[in-house]
Amino acid sequence: MVNKRWLIPIARPDIGDDEIEAVADVLSSGMLAQGRVVGEFESIFSHYIGVGGAVAVSSGTVGLDLALKALKIGQGDEVITTPFTFIATANAILYQGARPVFADIDEQSFTIDPDDLLKKMTSKTRAVVGVHLFGHPFDLKAVLEICEDHNLFLVEDCAQAHGAEYNGLKVGGFGSVGCFSFYPTKNMTTGEGGMITSNNDKIIRMCNLLRNHGEVEKYLHTILGYNYRMTDIQAAIGCVQLKKVDKMSEMRIKNAEYLNKHLSVPGLRLPIKKNGVKHVYHQYAVTISEEDGFPLSRDELMAYLREKGIECAVHYPRPVHRQPLYQRLGYTDEAVNCPVATEISERILSLPVHPGLSREDLRYIAESVNSVGE
Ligand SMILES: Cc1ncc(COP(=O)(O)O)c(C=O)c1O
Repeated sequence: MVNKRWLIPIARPDIGDDEIEAVADVLSSGMLAQGRVVGEFESIFSHYIGVGGAVAVSSGTVGLDLALKALKIGQGDEVITTPFTFIATANAILYQGARPVFADIDEQSFTIDPDDLLKKMTSKTRAVVGVHLFGHPFDLKAVLEICEDHNLFLVEDCAQAHGAEYNGLKVGGFGSVGCFSFYPTKNMTTGEGGMITSNNDKIIRMCNLLRNHGEVEKYLHTILGYNYRMTDIQAAIGCVQLKKVDKMSEMRIKNAEYLNKHLSVPGLRLPIKKNGVKHVYHQYAVTISEEDGFPLSRDELMAYLREKGIECAVHYPRPVHRQPLYQRLGYTDEAVNCPVATEISERILSLPVHPGLSREDLRYIAESVNSVGE
């Protein structure tokens, strides 16, 4: 499926005949909403991650919302996350009536800085939502230790990290809950969709109830729930995608390795992978430093590459606390005090790394970046 607008798009879902056939089977079965196929998807996904249970939902945002509801996070509580993430991570905390508190990021992995996390804790802190950003696991050892010492829940935002590993184990099973997204740009997709993973039966049961109007048996509702269900149509796509997710991630890793080897411009910092992690490169994010000799600003580089037909993107152009919504809620740079996140958001740029890139595409990306300033 060729995107006509861009020579090389920033993302391209890998959808083939198997996904189309799987959807056609569901459509011709007449059972379109949540049913057998969702159950099958949950079962193979939990097995893939290596957790006790999984609950499929309509989006990654809904997954985070239900995870925090299942943990009974509410008004008066504080939940720590980073401002260098997609807004959904923090909004899910607001949905509970709780207060998002922002900890800064580590400047190499762009994930939560455990030292700053400790500094941002108060007596009201109940949970941490760590984000495995761009497919790079956050420092699970340090964050888990902090959570255990201070009796905090850990929610893993795995929206960008299907199959990413920390010390040989897949993310999504380390904390109390893990939440995945299947948005089309992600490492695997269901169109829209999400998955909650946990080793805690009570959490899985509660998320099941919340997802489906608190229904314990037909038309018997015990708690206030929602319609946050995934359809069998989406799950059918997910079952096929899950079979290929490792292969697709391997291609992302190979593409990242190619770019690492061939990109070379003073002042251009390539992505850093920490020891002991499997990085699945949801994004290949470089940072630009004009002080260190890069000839263009970040925005000039983006415009230059776009001119050449290479779509790039900024993840994320402003940290969450600088979003108008959060500004209205009273968040200020001074109070939030996350200088690394703020600075990185001005320097960062994602280049295409998706599995649909050919060797020719990669060569063209590397040549184009290397020829800046010529
Ligand atoms: C880090 C992060 N968290 C949460 C989400 C929300 O997922 P969804 O778009 O499926 O609601 C996303 C998706 O973009 C994300 O990147």
